[in-house]
Amino acid sequence: MENSTIGKKLFLVGVGPGSSEYLTDIAKNVIRKSKYLIGYKYTLSIVRDLIIPNFHQVYEVTMRDQDQTYNEVYKKMGKDETCTIPFTGDVNFSESEVVDRLLEIFGKDNVELMPGISSIQVAASKAKIPLDKTRVISFHVTEDIGDKKKELVEAIQDKKSVILVPRPWNNNAEKNFMQSEIASYLKNEGIDTSTLKVWVFEFLTTEEERVFRGRLNELEKMNFSPLSVMVIDQVSRKTYLQFE
Ligand SMILES: C[S@@+](CC[C@H](N)C(=O)[O-])C[C@H]1O[C@@H](n2cnc3c(N)ncnc32)[C@H](O)[C@@H]1O
Repeated sequence: MENSTIGKKLFLVGVGPGSSEYLTDIAKNVIRKSKYLIGYKYTLSIVRDLIIPNFHQVYEVTMRDQDQTYNEVYKKMGKDETCTIPFTGDVNFSESEVVDRLLEIFGKDNVELMPGISSIQVAASKAKIPLDKTRVISFHVTEDIGDKKKELVEAIQDKKSVILVPRPWNNNAEKNFMQSEIASYLKNEGIDTSTLKVWVFEFLTTEEERVFRGRLNELEKMNFSPLSVMVIDQVSRKTYLQFE
């Protein structure tokens, strides 16, 4: 059941993939004005310079305990108080399992979403891959990924480029779908992984940013951070001169 208490306002704000240079002014303003801030450790670190010690009440959550904190803060909030939850990158990409729960707890009409710059957009820029010619897939979900794996195979067979976030799953090798598993899976599906061009971007926009560029089959024996984006580059470049 949705809550619809008027006055308690929740902002779900994309804060970019890591560097505060990718934080928009509108996101900064909302964060500065919100008494309550709830976020994962990494995401809170992106906005740390905006935290005012005697004003903000900050809650660091994990995937495990987040639901309890969201409910606690919702109950604690007074009329007309605001809470902001910063999301890494864009709140509208690969965050819906959490966003949908927050819409349930706070009531859809009390929640405002603000876009941010996604890790996907930064990867697209670095690889010079136009998003409108690309299949963008998030494996970073708890739900079953069987259909998404098929979508990935079809996109490659259709000669589309792909930008994806892999699925890190601590302590469960079967659920992991990181770069090495992706490369083996695609080879088993009959894709020629020795010719496909790939990029892997780790820790985008941070001081530890790293890039691997090579062929898909090389990833089979490689390990990457959970904080990584993978690009399969099948772009065929066409300018307007070709369509005159
Ligand atoms: C749950 S998804 C959220 C994506 C996020 N909303 C966005 O728009 O970038 C988390 C995944 O995004 C990717 N990601 C987020 N920030 C990143 C960064 N700075 N560098 C590389 N990958 C990143 C990683 O694959 C990470 O595991």
